[in-house]
Formats: sequence, C-alpha cells, structure tokens
Amino acid sequence: MFTFRRKKESTQVALEKIPKHIGVIMDGNGRWAKKRMQPRIMGHKAGMDALQAVTIKASELGVKVLTVYAFSTENWTRPVDEVKFIMSLPVEFFDKYVPELHKNNVKVQMIGDTSRLPKDTLDALNRARELTKRNSGLILNFALNYGGRAEIVSAVKQIAQDVLDARFNTGDITEELIANYLNTATLPYLYRDPDLIIRTSGELRLSNFLPWQSAYSEFYFTDVLWPDFKEKGLVAAIEEYNRRHRRFGGV
Ligand code: FPP
Repeated sequence: MFTFRRKKESTQVALEKIPKHIGVIMDGNGRWAKKRMQPRIMGHKAGMDALQAVTIKASELGVKVLTVYAFSTENWTRPVDEVKFIMSLPVEFFDKYVPELHKNNVKVQMIGDTSRLPKDTLDALNRARELTKRNSGLILNFALNYGGRAEIVSAVKQIAQDVLDARFNTGDITEELIANYLNTATLPYLYRDPDLIIRTSGELRLSNFLPWQSAYSEFYFTDVLWPDFKEKGLVAAIEEYNRRHRRFGGV
C-alpha cells in the first residue's frame, strides 16, 4: 500500500493570538514550476503538498477554519488541459492526503458553485466530506468555482424571492440576515468571517475572494510562492497577525 510521508519542518512558536478563521489565496504555483523549468501542473502538485503541510500545522495551532481558494469562477479561462488537471486534483487529494487529515480530526467542506464541476471532481470531494463529517477539528473549506460577487448575486436573488413570498419585509434585511444567505453560512457561526487573509506570490489583490466576509480581516501578503509557503510561512503570517491590533472601527 502507498503511504504518504510528509517532511516536517520544525517551527517552534510562541503565539498569543491564533486567528480562528484563515483564508488563503494560494498563488504562484505556475511561477514556481517555471523557475524549475517544469510544466505548470507540477506547480499545482507541489501546491497540494504545501496545502497539506499548512493544514496540519494550522490544526496543531488551534485554527478553526482554513478556507482555501482552489479555483475561482474566472479560472475557467485557463488552458483546457490545465483546468482539467486542476479538476483532477481532488481525486488525488482524496487518495493521498485525506487519510492523514482524517487522522488529524480535520473536517472537509466546500463553498462555491459546485454544479459546474466535473462529476469525478465532485464525487472525490463528496467522499472526503462524507468521511470526515463527524470530525470536530479544523475545517478545511475548499473554495471551488467560487466567486465573491456571484455569491452575493445569488444571495440577493434568494432574499428578493423570500420577500416576494412574504417570508419577511425589506425592513428585516440586516447584515446578519445577508450573511445567512452566503456560502459561508455553512461554517460555525462564530467563525464565518476570516480574521486573516493570506496571499502568496507578491500579488496585492483580493481577486473576488470572500469580499463580504473580509470587511474586517487582516491582510498578509508575501512574495513567497505558494509551494514554498508551508509551515514556516503560516507561522510568519500568524506572527505578523499578532503584531496587528484589530479595532473593528473602535479605538
Ligand atoms: C494559483 O497559482 C493556484 C491555483 C489556481 C490552483 C491552486 C490549487 C491547489 C494548490 C491545489 C488545490 C487542491 C485541491 C484538492 C483542489 P497560479 O497557477 O495562478 O500560479 P501563477 O500565478 O504563478 O501562474
């Protein structure tokens, strides 16, 4: 039987505040591969190793939710072969990575419009979700075919329909009600909004990732490419988060 061994990096940390929900834009896989004169898909493969390392470390540190931007609604414009490859990743993910996550009490969930995903991709994710659904540890939340504006459009349509159906009036629409119509409503109530959003590879954009939920998030940008980020990168991001003072509009 194939067993997967991950090289552990030693990262001793004394961190006071652990962000409960971390969102990650895993960018730079393509450039990582190019630097090594390898095809882009090798970067995505290495990106999965990095994701596994970061997930286990985050779970050890007591993070509750890790939402990872694995495929955006805009990523369909990539070359067909690359899209096909990215869509095959969850299948490999289930065989090679989920057993270790399951042992670590990690629960797999997803957000996004999964109706457009190929059947094999969705099946693999559903198997991961089913296997881990009773786990009580970190939630690894895949944003797949996710787009923040599309999520808001869909919420507005449902809210409008509920008003037409006289379930409530426009006067009842609050921030809290809107949040209940977003994809992140499937997360535990206290951890729906990310405390910290990380983007790797030097890009300084949110790219349609959790625009509503990130209203009060801290942002951490690093030039490190996603496959190189790993445990050390996560700890550096949390150390920086510890140096920030979140005021939520207060003093
Ligand atoms: C961005 O790098 C990365 C992606 C679009 C895909 C990320 C996916 C993974 C790391 C694996 C996810 C795992 C599962 C199970 C779905 P890029 O290609 O935009 O890099 P570049 O900016 O250097 O070209």
